[in-house]
Amino acid sequence: MKKTILTGIRPTGNLHLGHYFGASKTWRDIQNDYDFYLEIADVQALTDNFDNPEKVRTNVYEITKDLLSIGIDPEKVHFFIQSQIPEIAELTVFFGNLVTVSRLQRNPTVKTEISQKKAIFGNNGESITYGFLGYPVSQAADITCFEGEIVPVGEDQLPLLEQCREIVRKFNSIYGETLIEPQPLLSKTTRIKGLDGNDKMGKSLGNAIYLVDDKETIHKKIMGAMTDPNKIKKDDPANPNICMVYYYHKLVNNEENIKTICEECRKGNRGCVQCKKELIETMNNFLKPIQERRKYYEENPQEIEKILQQGTKEAKEKAQRTIKKVKQAMKINYEEDKVSE
Ligand code: TRP
Repeated sequence: MKKTILTGIRPTGNLHLGHYFGASKTWRDIQNDYDFYLEIADVQALTDNFDNPEKVRTNVYEITKDLLSIGIDPEKVHFFIQSQIPEIAELTVFFGNLVTVSRLQRNPTVKTEISQKKAIFGNNGESITYGFLGYPVSQAADITCFEGEIVPVGEDQLPLLEQCREIVRKFNSIYGETLIEPQPLLSKTTRIKGLDGNDKMGKSLGNAIYLVDDKETIHKKIMGAMTDPNKIKKDDPANPNICMVYYYHKLVNNEENIKTICEECRKGNRGCVQCKKELIETMNNFLKPIQERRKYYEENPQEIEKILQQGTKEAKEKAQRTIKKVKQAMKINYEEDKVSE
């Protein structure tokens, strides 16, 4: 029996290299080894985009196309839309009793996000909504609803998983062994740096390369990427370790080329413009098969609908089984009692 894996992604924008190398590439690489549930977390996306439903709706389809385009196989992975599984929302309500408000306020992931979203939650988080503060509870329901045993996560999501594990232990200790306590599968890749040298590639930082970027965009972005600021002339020796162009070569080029680039750069035998042009070509080659696969789905939108409907149906069956057990354990299984009378 394969173990069950669950992961989720907020549909708020297209996938960039940070998502790809930090997470979704791993999902693709392990898809054969698990019973894999992949949640398009639209309800979670709405917690901080409640005033922009159009954006979330559009990105449900965009993200699904992106994930398919990198080779995640809908025959192997259950793609589903969070909002279409009301059992998750039910479970979230039940879990609400098992977590204190102060514990949520202390969650490091939530704290970081509040400080990043001053525009909607106020300078000191004074305008935080009940829904946003509670999203870790909802995420715990995402995982346990599908009996997720393993959750692939980056460092930044670990506190959310810990919160989930606490809720599960509390539930089981009060209502009896019912839910599975998930284990993290920590991703090996740390976060991917941005074109400007920032530690994080992010949409809001405007320093990202997207899987959907066309040739012209790639050209513009890479030509503007940060290089060693001490290198003034073409044949000055430079330090590749502080150059973003070298950094991306390391992500998408082959080992032999990477070695040559590094040596030439250090010796001053390599101009930045040439180096950038080579990266542009390598990046386009890297993106080509991804974009070709994406084109297929763009031309066949009914295919996307089918994949999401089928995956959501499969996910719903699993969620219904879990919620039945949960209601039995909590002694709120009235419907069932009626049937058996
Ligand atoms: N919080 C995750 C993110 O922002 C998305 C997510 C939603 C998730 N539900 C999940 C991740 C369940 C892991 C498990 O990227």
